[in-house]
Amino acid sequence: MGVQDQYRDYVMTGFVKRIEPVVVDHGEGAKLYDVDGKAYVDCFAGISVTNAGHHNGAILEAAKAQADKVVHACSYVYYVPVVGELAQKIAQITPGALQKTFFANSGAEANEGAMRLAKRYSGRREFLAIESSFHGRTYATLSITGNSGRKRGGGPYMPGVAFTPTPYCYRCPLGLERESCGLACAERVREVARLHLSGECCAFVAEPVMGEGGIIVPPDEYFTAVKKVLDDEGILFIADEVQSGFGRTGKMFAIEHYGVEPDIVTMAKGIADGWPLGAFTSRPEIADAFQVGDHLSTFGGNPVSCAASLANIEFMEQVDLPGQAAAKGDELMARFRDLMRDEPLIGEVRGKGLMIGIELVKDRESKAYATAEAGFVRNWCLEHGLLIGVGGNFGNVLRLQPPLVIGEAELDTVFTTVAEALVEARKGVAV
Ligand SMILES: Cc1ncc(COP(=O)(O)O)c(C=O)c1O
Repeated sequence: MGVQDQYRDYVMTGFVKRIEPVVVDHGEGAKLYDVDGKAYVDCFAGISVTNAGHHNGAILEAAKAQADKVVHACSYVYYVPVVGELAQKIAQITPGALQKTFFANSGAEANEGAMRLAKRYSGRREFLAIESSFHGRTYATLSITGNSGRKRGGGPYMPGVAFTPTPYCYRCPLGLERESCGLACAERVREVARLHLSGECCAFVAEPVMGEGGIIVPPDEYFTAVKKVLDDEGILFIADEVQSGFGRTGKMFAIEHYGVEPDIVTMAKGIADGWPLGAFTSRPEIADAFQVGDHLSTFGGNPVSCAASLANIEFMEQVDLPGQAAAKGDELMARFRDLMRDEPLIGEVRGKGLMIGIELVKDRESKAYATAEAGFVRNWCLEHGLLIGVGGNFGNVLRLQPPLVIGEAELDTVFTTVAEALVEARKGVAV
């Protein structure tokens, strides 16, 4: 029985339109190879995970060495050295006074735990989140996710959640222009907190660069303005860095671009270059609000994942991977912005570092969502040896999120293949 038949008969897949027709054999750097030996430039990194590249030697060695010692002991029942070492390292690389970390296994679990901690610390129970956000697939994280496509069939969701307008200048939900808007979307945070909730808001949860929503980059001053509102109202700020963390945007954490210090940072994905690990980190006085019995995870802080994560962070520091992502991303975005002169399908090119979104529109006047075209481009690229993602609430944003180690020639392949695919998409050629 082949793997595609096994998937059809034995794997639950009803929640995806399709599994991409690539049978993965192995990876190396920014490339994936299928079982027939065909190479693909991987411009999606397993949804923004393998930031330090596939098959990274130093990370593999660290994980193997740990596996040779112990794979699992339960890091919240016994002391495990690598867990302490990683927590200390995370305290060094996270912004400001963030210091104490809880280790989980995924992004959703990290956000869920951070929400629990915020409730414990503040004694309040309600949350603010942003429309078009995505925070995970568990009950609480779907409750703060502003995307009905992800929530369908799972409601009713948690009460005590209110949503603020997306800081999405290309399609401002308030119908304003950036030059004259006075950052009304940030000021709306105050009104929503006061008018939609009952005065019990414990935290505002936000992605510093919104991933699943279509690589939406808030205006530079947005988080400073929101933080002022949050401080005025006594509301904590949880920065969801699950997708934007670990060098992806050109800084170790994307919130550093804005000069704002969150109260809690959540992370996963790029934290261990592919080993499953999630985490949230906060200032000690917040972290210490947990009471006996409040929280734990059997697998959380798995020693092998933690060893991989520690080596991953050391690798990032040694080769300045965030700096590399910034330079490579700037160059790639500049090329796509130049292409806009000849390519009417592109409505906007945006992003930070190697977290890049190319929003496709039927025409720039109407900005009608070019959803079918985006799907076409993804399929055409796959046929031609390039893996990319598609996102946005209407599926019309191409997502370029390669391993940050991607080389110059591979970046050139990304540009030329996507550019060609856009031309083909305009011709309406079916793949
Ligand atoms: C910003 C953000 N938060 C949370 C999650 C959920 O992470 P996980 O799939 O590891 O649970 C994701 C996943 O895409 C994400 O992008």
